Amino acid sequence: MFELQLLLSILTLSFTSQSYSSTSQLSILHHPKPNPLSISVIDFGAAGDGVKYDTVPIQKAINACSATVSKHRRQCHVIFPPRKYLTATIFLKSGVVLDIHKKATILGGAKLEDYPKDQSRWYVVLAEDAADVGITGGGEINGQGLKFVQRFDEKKNVMVSWNHTGACLGDECRPRLVGFIGCRNIKVSDVRLIEPAYWCLHLVRSDNTTIRDVTIYGNFNSPNNDGIDVEDSNNTVITRCNINTGDDAICPKSSTGPVYNLTVTDCWIRTKSSAIKLGSASFYTFRNFLFDNITIVESHRGLALQIRDGGNASDMTFSNINMSTRYYHPSWWGRAEPIYVTTCPRDASSKAGSISNLLFVNITATSENGIFLSGSGGGVLSNLKFINMNLTYKRWTKFPDGLVDYRPGCQQLVNHQTAGFMMEHIDGIVVENVVMKWSNDQSMRWNNPLDFRPSTVNNISLLNFYSRSYQQ
Ligand SMILES: *[C@@H]1O[C@H](CO)[C@@H](O)[C@H](O)[C@H]1NC(C)=O
Ligand SMILES: *[C@@H]1O[C@H](CO)[C@@H](O)[C@H](O)[C@H]1NC(C)=O
Ligand SMILES: *[C@@H]1O[C@H](CO)[C@@H](O)[C@H](O)[C@H]1NC(C)=O
Ligand SMILES: *[C@@H]1O[C@H](CO)[C@@H](O)[C@H](O)[C@H]1NC(C)=O
Ligand SMILES: *[C@@H]1O[C@H](CO)[C@@H](O)[C@H](O)[C@H]1NC(C)=O
Ligand SMILES: *[C@@H]1O[C@H](CO)[C@@H](O)[C@H](O)[C@H]1NC(C)=O
Ligand SMILES: *[C@@H]1O[C@H](CO)[C@@H](O)[C@H](O)[C@H]1NC(C)=O
Ligand SMILES: *[C@@H]1O[C@H](CO)[C@@H](O)[C@H](O)[C@H]1NC(C)=O
Ligand SMILES: *[C@@H]1O[C@H](CO)[C@@H](O)[C@H](O)[C@H]1NC(C)=O
Ligand SMILES: *[C@@H]1O[C@H](CO)[C@@H](O)[C@H](O)[C@H]1NC(C)=O
Repeated sequence: MFELQLLLSILTLSFTSQSYSSTSQLSILHHPKPNPLSISVIDFGAAGDGVKYDTVPIQKAINACSATVSKHRRQCHVIFPPRKYLTATIFLKSGVVLDIHKKATILGGAKLEDYPKDQSRWYVVLAEDAADVGITGGGEINGQGLKFVQRFDEKKNVMVSWNHTGACLGDECRPRLVGFIGCRNIKVSDVRLIEPAYWCLHLVRSDNTTIRDVTIYGNFNSPNNDGIDVEDSNNTVITRCNINTGDDAICPKSSTGPVYNLTVTDCWIRTKSSAIKLGSASFYTFRNFLFDNITIVESHRGLALQIRDGGNASDMTFSNINMSTRYYHPSWWGRAEPIYVTTCPRDASSKAGSISNLLFVNITATSENGIFLSGSGGGVLSNLKFINMNLTYKRWTKFPDGLVDYRPGCQQLVNHQTAGFMMEHIDGIVVENVVMKWSNDQSMRWNNPLDFRPSTVNNISLLNFYSRSYQQ
């Protein structure tokens, strides 16, 4: 029955693609952009019961779809009707868009044998060296991340590790959810990416990507379930996204090449780590980034540039951002800083990178800790502008303060009194139209607006800067 159905599907498909090619001349004459062809995974034998693996039918549908793509028909949709599809890694091919319908879910397998041998290819959905690819349709891809929690812990969950295989070391040894490696012209829109076991949406050495109307949800207490990691990739636009997850929400990294032209707008973020985090892999250039109209809620850190490996970050605007940042358990990096900028080298063998030309404008923050700006002897921060900011400092959790956090590596955690702006190794800082308010909490006895490390900060301009305490 199954064989017959599959055979019929293939016949139907070849008929469809033949009838397409016989009319393609006409299409070119009359319809320069024909509607994309659609192929349903059900026609290829997918059970969609969430129990039986549908890997083979899904992959056959993708391969057949990709085969219909040509110079004149750049895309083909693989349709997932409303069901649950359990699968091992599926490989997205050039020209294919996964069209996961509303109420349809692709479920990633939770077994080691569901993933390829090479750990760098452990994803539920993976596109490699492909062009004109996408994911859309209103449905869901779910990594079943909760199955990877070995022990639930409010502080930080302990996760399963597949490190015994030797595929990877340490405790970061689990599959990611969706990956694009060496791809171009990617569009991910109108899809929910839920419970990744590890990183969620990962761009690697890719170019020209749009991520729009994407919802990302991961367990708040699970480590490493980053939202979107933009690694060694250029020309990325992220807009209208909603990210609620344990680890860094939007995280550009440079490991083997630079990251140019990243635009993030109109997003809502909550994370137990950094909402925006550059690094920590930071071996090459980060340049020309814009972050605009972003709401950050109850996160451990707001806007962070954590350059540890000799790369240079420059020409970035952070505008129209509202946020609240608070303390969580110190096993997570972050100390409630709304803004965190550092070039402190990772260790003695690391080069010092530089950070220059940053503009922070129209920022409202309510935070349990201040802004941290820490260049290093070999890597000063230069030309930083803070314009139109309302900063409110108050405490609402019981976690202890009085520490600055240089992790990973560098000086680790260091005792230091909370400051409104903590500054070291900076050349050129402008603070303009900035109002800083301190909750008048007697037990705290804090109100240290500007804290300069002597002789390391040069060329300072303060214009319309106010700092005062207020009655809570
Ligand atoms: C493997 O992962 C476990 C769990 O995270 C960890 O305790 C252990 O140290 C790791 N072992 C190796 C060899 O990395
Ligand atoms: C970028 O990708 C989109 C598809 O997402 C495509 O329409 C556009 O032509 C591409 N731009 C370039 C410059 O290739
Ligand atoms: C990004 O642009 C830089 C500078 O042009 C280039 O060196 C790098 O190869 C590009 N990366 C990709 C993935 O295209
Ligand atoms: C970055 O964007 C600018 C302006 O659109 C463009 O000229 C430049 O080529 C882009 N850089 C890369 C590496 O693609
Ligand atoms: C800001 O982003 C929100 C979505 O988070 C959107 O509703 C709103 O229209 C955007 N505002 C502007 C001025 O674009
Ligand atoms: C930030 O708050 C202000 C004042 O409440 C509001 O006008 C603005 O739209 C908010 N911006 C964002 C990005 O939420
Ligand atoms: C960073 O800039 C410095 C100074 O211009 C330069 O020497 C260094 O090579 C740059 N680093 C990288 C990774 O491009
Ligand atoms: C800061 O607060 C003042 C007074 O309430 C308001 O006029 C201004 O627009 C606010 N600025 C920002 C960036 O929210
Ligand atoms: C900052 O806010 C002001 C007042 O709301 C607005 O006129 C200005 O365009 C904003 N600046 C940027 C860079 O968005
Ligand atoms: C001082 O800093 C400002 C702002 O960063 C910059 O525009 C100016 O060129 C600097 N002046 C000198 C003398 O370095």
